[in-house]
Amino acid sequence: MLRKHIYKAISPALLAGIAITTTSCEEAENEADVPSLHEAFEGLFLIGGTLSDRMILDTSDPGYAIAEKHFNSLSPENCMKWGRMNPEPNVENYELAETFVRYGAANDQALVGHTLFWHSQTPDWVYKDEAGNDLSREALLARMRERATLMAERWGDEIVYWDVVNESIMGDGSWRKSKYQQIIGDDFTEQAFRIASEILPPNAQLLYNDYSMTDAGRRDAVVAMVKDFKAKGLRIDGIGMQGHWLMDFPDTKDIAESIQAFGSTGVKVHITELDLDLLGRASFFGADVDIRAIQVTPENNPYPDGVAPPAEEERFANRYGEIFETLVANADHIERVTFWGITDKTSWLNHFPVRGRTNFALLFDRQYQPKPAFYRVLETAKNRKE
Ligand code: XIL
Repeated sequence: MLRKHIYKAISPALLAGIAITTTSCEEAENEADVPSLHEAFEGLFLIGGTLSDRMILDTSDPGYAIAEKHFNSLSPENCMKWGRMNPEPNVENYELAETFVRYGAANDQALVGHTLFWHSQTPDWVYKDEAGNDLSREALLARMRERATLMAERWGDEIVYWDVVNESIMGDGSWRKSKYQQIIGDDFTEQAFRIASEILPPNAQLLYNDYSMTDAGRRDAVVAMVKDFKAKGLRIDGIGMQGHWLMDFPDTKDIAESIQAFGSTGVKVHITELDLDLLGRASFFGADVDIRAIQVTPENNPYPDGVAPPAEEERFANRYGEIFETLVANADHIERVTFWGITDKTSWLNHFPVRGRTNFALLFDRQYQPKPAFYRVLETAKNRKE
């Protein structure tokens, strides 16, 4: 319970102080010269970061200084997933999510509820009755209502953006054959939005979130779904493009086309989980968490000491640059751009899809310092339309 209130008591300045004691004085002095990312993008879109469970547990993590200076929105990496909150039917692990919300609210950061309903990181018990049989459609919908009610009661006042459904549409536009879909049917996503719109506060922003949103089949299906919901008078406020992108894929032209396609339905676009996989993946493009882990080898893990050659950092900066140029050019449609993590040190790309390699994904390095990509991204904010 103590941790639950700790962030209310600790001022941002003190938290920054904690961070400064862990870096050298010289770095701390330079730190003051580093412009704030979210301030640079003020008037264009919010800039978000993501807190891992480990960071939420460790109030002395130097990443807090970054989170407070550069991000005016925050997402929880894992602590609000159903499997973390209720790994067993009567186990209630809400402490981390509670701490996350207190921290972000104390810093006036627009908070994201990630995620209400997802096929992954959801325990089997959710779909079963006490005898171990699959629930009926009505019983599963009732269980989903219970979860939405719990989230609304605990965090409805603080959380602005809700990933109501994560990843229910496949690249070819078909519904994912998840357990939800098998039990509820093809209207699982629609029912989830009905539940969210009834139970979450009226000002909650309801999002559909997915990866590889430049795939034509998925893009068209998402556009059709938004139009269908709107025709039925059902609320949907935003589309989340996860943005787990590679160095050479997708093409920025396709990113722009998807943003425009979603935006033209009248909803806001959110880039919800932005990172770039510098090391790349041999055989697939998406962020499908069901993919089996690839073994680490010297070939797929070329910089195990955590330092990439300057030419690679430049390539990385340029790719971030072209992506942000595209985002800035389409800022009318975009409400928020959130990075999936804080620094390279704890990025999930150190474990996905290759387990245990040293990857490079974000704007801050393993020493919590801004990389060339940070400055390249910052420059793009100047290209805003007047
Ligand atoms: C990832 C987390 O980053 C990992 O720590 C976890 O092991 C698996 O999930 N799409 C999503 C995120 O919507 O919730 C996933 O997060 C990454 C892919």
